[in-house]
Amino acid sequence: MELKDKKVLITGGSAGIGKALVKELITHGVKDFAIVGRTKEKLEQLKKDFPEVNFILVSADISKLEDVEHVVSEINSNWEHLDLLINNAGVVSASPIQKLSDQDIIDQINVNLTGLILLTKKSLPLLLKSKDAGIINISSGLGYIAKPFYSVYAATKSGVKHFSEAMRRELIFENIHVMTVYPTATDTEMMKNADVDNMDSPELVAEKSIDGLLNKEINVILGGKQRLKDIDTNFNQPLKIDESVKENYESYKKRTKSHRAM
Ligand SMILES: NC(=O)c1ccc[n+]([C@@H]2O[C@H](COP(=O)([O-])OP(=O)(O)OC[C@H]3O[C@@H](n4cnc5c(N)ncnc54)[C@H](OP(=O)(O)O)[C@@H]3O)[C@@H](O)[C@H]2O)c1
Repeated sequence: MELKDKKVLITGGSAGIGKALVKELITHGVKDFAIVGRTKEKLEQLKKDFPEVNFILVSADISKLEDVEHVVSEINSNWEHLDLLINNAGVVSASPIQKLSDQDIIDQINVNLTGLILLTKKSLPLLLKSKDAGIINISSGLGYIAKPFYSVYAATKSGVKHFSEAMRRELIFENIHVMTVYPTATDTEMMKNADVDNMDSPELVAEKSIDGLLNKEINVILGGKQRLKDIDTNFNQPLKIDESVKENYESYKKRTKSHRAM
């Protein structure tokens, strides 16, 4: 895929991995971005940080159907087609399930999964007008290997994994490449309250993602060879992963206790 002069819509492009993706795409010649986020100030900051590119800034909450419709109507009134949709916006709330608030359960599902699905559906007519289009969905390592205290987050991210796979196959005869990214712990605002060492940088995730897109990969899995081994173990010998969870249960519970970015 040639990225120069592509028109890119990215949710959550105002911070973290999304903003690093914007920066990375600029280095590949992208000049037209539509960015979606809830906070106006963070969106406006993009114009200061990247004065050389054209932004359509859409203040919207992708968990709301009317906001998703607003995003697509903004694109429709500015562009004739869309080349790349990056579904990146996401939220997290870790907790033992009984203590997780009903609202955090509903909101994680609506932002991470329902919003992503609705935006994909409603962007498709614009993507189909592109000669060479792509969809990148940002899942998570937890979309492959579910961990305790992230039950709802992991459910949304495995939902993203499966939605991507189904879309890839459903769109097999179209000029739309569908790719899924599985970051591991990455140093962004989302991880501010999580007790984790050795995080990836958002720049690394962005670089690997765009390399993956250029090489038409279908899955970009961060976390190195060990992560690939763990995914294999989780699929073929899941009880081995359970054993390691048992050994680390209390420390894991403690470390995830305050992890909430909603
Ligand atoms: N960081 C990690 O360790 C990690 C690991 C695996 C996967 N991921 C995934 O990577 C993606 C990006 O995460 P990040 O770490 O970059 O998070 P982040 O730093 O918290 O940034 C999240 C971005 O999404 C936007 N956003 C959040 N909720 C939204 C909503 N309802 N509607 C529209 N925009 C919304 C935020 O802007 P506003 O707050 O202004 O709306 C912000 O721009 C997420 O899908 C996350 O699940 C992250």
